[in-house]
Amino acid sequence: MQVALVGLGVMGKNLALNLIEKGLNLVAYDKNPDAGEDLLSLAKKEGFAERLHIVSDLSDMVRRLETPRSILLLVPAGELVDKVCSELIEAGVDINDIIVDCGNSNYKDGIARKLKYQNKFEFATMGISGGAEGARHGPAMMASGSEGGWERIIPFFEKVAASHNGESCFARVGQSASGHFVKMVHNGIEYALMQLIAEVYHLLRLGCGKSNDEIAALFDTWSEGELNSYLLSISSHILKLNSSDNTPIVDLIDNKVGAKGTGLWTAQNALELGIAVPSLVAAVQARHLTNTQDTHAALEMTYAAKQPAKVDIDLEELRKAFHLASLLCYRQGLALIKGASRSHQWKVDLAKTLQTWRAGCIIRADYLDQIAEGNGFIDGLNDEVIALRNIAADAVRSGLAFPVLAATQTYYATLTTPSNGHLVQAQRDYFGEHGIKTHEGETCHLTDLTHIDAKVR
Ligand code: 6PG
Repeated sequence: MQVALVGLGVMGKNLALNLIEKGLNLVAYDKNPDAGEDLLSLAKKEGFAERLHIVSDLSDMVRRLETPRSILLLVPAGELVDKVCSELIEAGVDINDIIVDCGNSNYKDGIARKLKYQNKFEFATMGISGGAEGARHGPAMMASGSEGGWERIIPFFEKVAASHNGESCFARVGQSASGHFVKMVHNGIEYALMQLIAEVYHLLRLGCGKSNDEIAALFDTWSEGELNSYLLSISSHILKLNSSDNTPIVDLIDNKVGAKGTGLWTAQNALELGIAVPSLVAAVQARHLTNTQDTHAALEMTYAAKQPAKVDIDLEELRKAFHLASLLCYRQGLALIKGASRSHQWKVDLAKTLQTWRAGCIIRADYLDQIAEGNGFIDGLNDEVIALRNIAADAVRSGLAFPVLAATQTYYATLTTPSNGHLVQAQRDYFGEHGIKTHEGETCHLTDLTHIDAKVR
């Protein structure tokens, strides 16, 4: 089996080594010749360089490949994807060939590209998660599309991806560019879970005065049970790291958090589709808030610093609240995927989606089994519901900021207690005659139900 790979950055290089190790013959290209050399020497060190061929241009790549060709792109999302596609067309790819965009591309670009290239070659999309380590030893692979070319490469990718209980974490999750949508939402959930763990840490550190070591030990205890997850375990590890003069590493790091854009896209798409994912949106804005603390705009509205208050936290209650809040972050992401799938007619399979997240990716967690049980997975968690309410209240009392914890409690409360939309309906109709809908399902105006003599001006 032979595949080509364009783009030998961190992800490309590691995926290349994984592909060759699993027995594939790889033709690889990067516009920077050093990247090709680097890959070749790594492959030599690992003893499988005979299955790797580095080419110095795309025409050579296209010439060398057996037809029909299978080409993977691991180039930065954006214009570069189209640039490489155009060059590959010039180099001679044809309608029988498949080109799979494996970067963190926007799914909207994927849809447009499918149309743009439909008479040139098969354009398919696949989101890959797991960072460098995952790419090297087994990532999560969220592929999409019904292109015939997939049939040639799927058996191979099933081996290259991570696996859980013997089942591969590669799946074609749905139609069109839904693989990139699913990967985007994966990242949206990733933002929320990272921020949630940071908030639990913050509450324990500043609200309860615990040390980094104590918090790491608590996270380790949680990890021994059902809360075991990749993000919780790396957080505990980070909290245990010290510099050479024994200062905790975490205390040396500035508050600004970068972002490549997938979290923002998740929030934008949710808002456009009208699907509520408040925890995911709050996580994106948590980065905005902390990043703008010393910008000009913020400085013009400086508020005097306030002292947080100490709070007493029941650690078992905190564990339960964290458990439910984590489940609710996935629940929101899945609702977004379901809604988008319905709007775009992608037929996304949520069970397959969850299978791709089960190992290899950043949001892998043992409690995904619980989520895979289906919609009712939260209904039995009554103690956790009370715990989330209590912990959210304790957190607010500390005076510190907990955007995701608070948004998640609000999300759950909105879905499970009476809502307050009736007064907002009435307000809209009062000033704009937008109409109201009664409990009986009748659409009318306030004036049909009551006499309004004079409106408030
Ligand atoms: C993954 C990661 C990966 C990357 C994020 C970082 O699944 O392997 O999500 O895609 O590390 O894009 O995203 P931000 O830079 O936006 O935090």
